[in-house]
Amino acid sequence: MHYIGSKEKLIPFLKKEIRSSCGDLEGKTFFDLFAGTGTVSRSFCNEGLHVSANDIEYYSYIINHAYLKTDSLIDYQQQLESLNALKEEAGLIHEYYALGGGEERNYFSNENAKKIDIIRKTIELWYQNKIINKERYYLLLATLIESVTYISNTASIYSAFLKTLKKTAQLPLELKALHVNSSRVKHNIYNKDANSLIKDISGDILYLDPPYNLRQYGANYHILNTIAHYKPFKPKGKTGLRDYYSSPYSRKKDAYKSLKNLLKSAKFSHIFLSYSSDGIIDNEEIKKVMLKLGEYHQVSQEHKKFNCKNSKTKNNKVVEYLHILHKNTF
Ligand SMILES: C[S@@+](CC[C@H](N)C(=O)[O-])C[C@H]1O[C@@H](n2cnc3c(N)ncnc32)[C@H](O)[C@@H]1O
Repeated sequence: MHYIGSKEKLIPFLKKEIRSSCGDLEGKTFFDLFAGTGTVSRSFCNEGLHVSANDIEYYSYIINHAYLKTDSLIDYQQQLESLNALKEEAGLIHEYYALGGGEERNYFSNENAKKIDIIRKTIELWYQNKIINKERYYLLLATLIESVTYISNTASIYSAFLKTLKKTAQLPLELKALHVNSSRVKHNIYNKDANSLIKDISGDILYLDPPYNLRQYGANYHILNTIAHYKPFKPKGKTGLRDYYSSPYSRKKDAYKSLKNLLKSAKFSHIFLSYSSDGIIDNEEIKKVMLKLGEYHQVSQEHKKFNCKNSKTKNNKVVEYLHILHKNTF
């Protein structure tokens, strides 16, 4: 999934730095407090760590739940085939987000919108009628959410749709099985505000990857939450926004204070914070706060900036800092 701030390409760098700071990782706890797509959490599952993943957005919770809590040996191909074979039926995605719905939004072809509707309704029915359990429910929802991102008529985020259907948006929606985590350790998933949750948790390694710019995830991925919740509401304006959570980390006046409070409250021995040179909070400010809390150093790596797929931006490189803090006392 093409996601703002995804660390997928930085995983080898993160692993190297985390291993060299913490030594043997086997049996340690790893908390990914702003997990997003869960790509970092997943990659650390295979190191024998007890992983916990949290994100305030519901679509992210579903994705993380599916990847980290499903037994990799399960075979759900038959269920996917049944869902893929369903006959299109209009519902709220068609009504709100396809031209045929009459609200002039072109996020999906009419056929795909109706397909999303019938699949989403069937998953709910299976769950309500106890044909599937909670784990399978999240797995099927996550599969639907990921598949939808491939046929959306957008430049990868949902803050706008394209005027005419692009090639990939004309392809029929098809659910494909997720490659879930193969670790046998039990992992924990949360759907909470990081600054509240931090008061109730403790452990060895805390990985922080908060938003670093003004883009609110709830606004940019609102349709994924609509598919996840699937409850009627009144979509707003041209883009059909739903009410969304506004993160303090994406507000200039609140980002620094939120991060400072979070770091102070954290009861973890090793804290790793990913932050971009392009971010709202200045590198020196982060350094100053961390130096007061324990032993501190930073490393960095050049990284390709997130751009919408049709962006013409040329300056694509940013420096991705990894701030490393070993906290002495909590
Ligand atoms: C930079 S992204 C994380 C990307 C992730 N590491 C990945 O590789 O996919 C930041 C994430 O923080 C989440 N977020 C924003 N504010 C939050 C808050 N107050 N508490 C918890 N999560 C929050 C967003 O929903 C978003 O998924």
